[in-house]
Amino acid sequence: MRKVASGKIKKTSAKLLDEFNASIMFDKEIYNEDIDGSIAHVKMLSKQGIISKQSEDKIIDGLNTIRKEIQDGKYQFYLKDEDIHMSIENRLTELIGDDAKRMHTARSRNDQVALDFRMFVLRSNKKLNELLYKLQRVLLKIAKQNTDTLLPGMTHLQHAQPINFAYHLLAYISMFKRDIERFENSGKRNNISPIGCAALAGTPYETDREYEAKLLGFDSISINCLDSVSDRDFALEILFNISVLMMHISRFAEEIILWSSSEFGFVELSDEYSTSSSIMPQKKNPDVPELLRGKTGRVYGNLISLLTVLKGLPLAYNKDMQEDKEGVFDSIKTAEISIKILTKAIESMSVKKKNMLKATKKGHLSATDLADYLTTKCGYAFRDAYKLTGEIVGYADGAGKDMSELDIKELRIFEPKIQNDVIEVLQLENSMNARNSEGGTSVNSTKKQLEYFQKWLEKNNTAL
Ligand code: ARG
Repeated sequence: MRKVASGKIKKTSAKLLDEFNASIMFDKEIYNEDIDGSIAHVKMLSKQGIISKQSEDKIIDGLNTIRKEIQDGKYQFYLKDEDIHMSIENRLTELIGDDAKRMHTARSRNDQVALDFRMFVLRSNKKLNELLYKLQRVLLKIAKQNTDTLLPGMTHLQHAQPINFAYHLLAYISMFKRDIERFENSGKRNNISPIGCAALAGTPYETDREYEAKLLGFDSISINCLDSVSDRDFALEILFNISVLMMHISRFAEEIILWSSSEFGFVELSDEYSTSSSIMPQKKNPDVPELLRGKTGRVYGNLISLLTVLKGLPLAYNKDMQEDKEGVFDSIKTAEISIKILTKAIESMSVKKKNMLKATKKGHLSATDLADYLTTKCGYAFRDAYKLTGEIVGYADGAGKDMSELDIKELRIFEPKIQNDVIEVLQLENSMNARNSEGGTSVNSTKKQLEYFQKWLEKNNTAL
């Protein structure tokens, strides 16, 4: 039987306890980090003369064999081993004998798990960002093709003012840029090694924590060991950052669902990324964006769950903390597949420019432009201009026309000071282009925004 030897516990544990206590079923996910951590640890121990060079070499060889066994699916995970840390140590003992027993000198599973899990999360921050950069690239590509594709901009889901489709996508590009920055900032903030803190209070051995941290690619070592073995802020941060990302994805998904309905008809998802109904043969369902919207719920749940696990824990390590991993793994996997499929779904979706344009002719999108015209050209106070425009909207509704379709005679009935130039002002494209302030929707301003994000992408995503 493979179990941690203990002075206090003489009897074999109950099978039910093994089942309840074990984390091996899920923490095997961090085997790579555990092996990387152990290799660095024995290198440090040997450099410090705490173990021999011979032991170091044998341990590293054994650990590399174990890594290969796991990668090749030939490794046996036993519930009795409790977790990935004991599993690897026990297998190492089987492989190389007594030298394996020197590996755990000057460390504890408490700093070991804090290290492994942290490294896994730091690597995941980077992995998610690589995927997000790909998404940004696709969004920018579609945006560039649609700088003059008019569609109704909305507030309260009601037609408001004309915008272009690139401008709409740029709003999401802005959100995803912030998401990328959040993952990056969190990665930088948490790039601190806890290893060497041992159980809670440091170690009497003459270790070199800086050296070990450097071998593992950390920027620095943690200051206080009691905190280092108890700290799961890095895990909370990735859970929060994924929650915000998924909230953005969910809003985008909701728009794609609306846009692909027959009421909107603004986009059509490709067959490859659509599903059918089991009973209604005419249907094409947007399951992809619906699932993206739905999966947002579970990542919020994972965040709340870990916050709750941690909230009342006394220092330092408590077994409650073993509950920190599954939610994080789940959120990371959910985010990964969500970003990937969103990228594919929008890359293959068709943009129905004509339907978007048609929709802009409903809802008097240039009404604000008429109010502005009355204010700037006819001497109205804005409130009075607003009121008169409201009356003209009522007239246009009665005549079955959009405001952009009224002729000069009709407009002059309401205000004789209105001149011919108003007709141009009320054209929807002109209305969009009039919003040329910084960050506005004019084609000119949209192109500047595209350029800004393109440059940012080139500068930051070196994998381009
Ligand atoms: N499986 C444990 C976890 O994930 C590892 C740390 C165990 N430490 C301990 N003192 N029991 O939290």
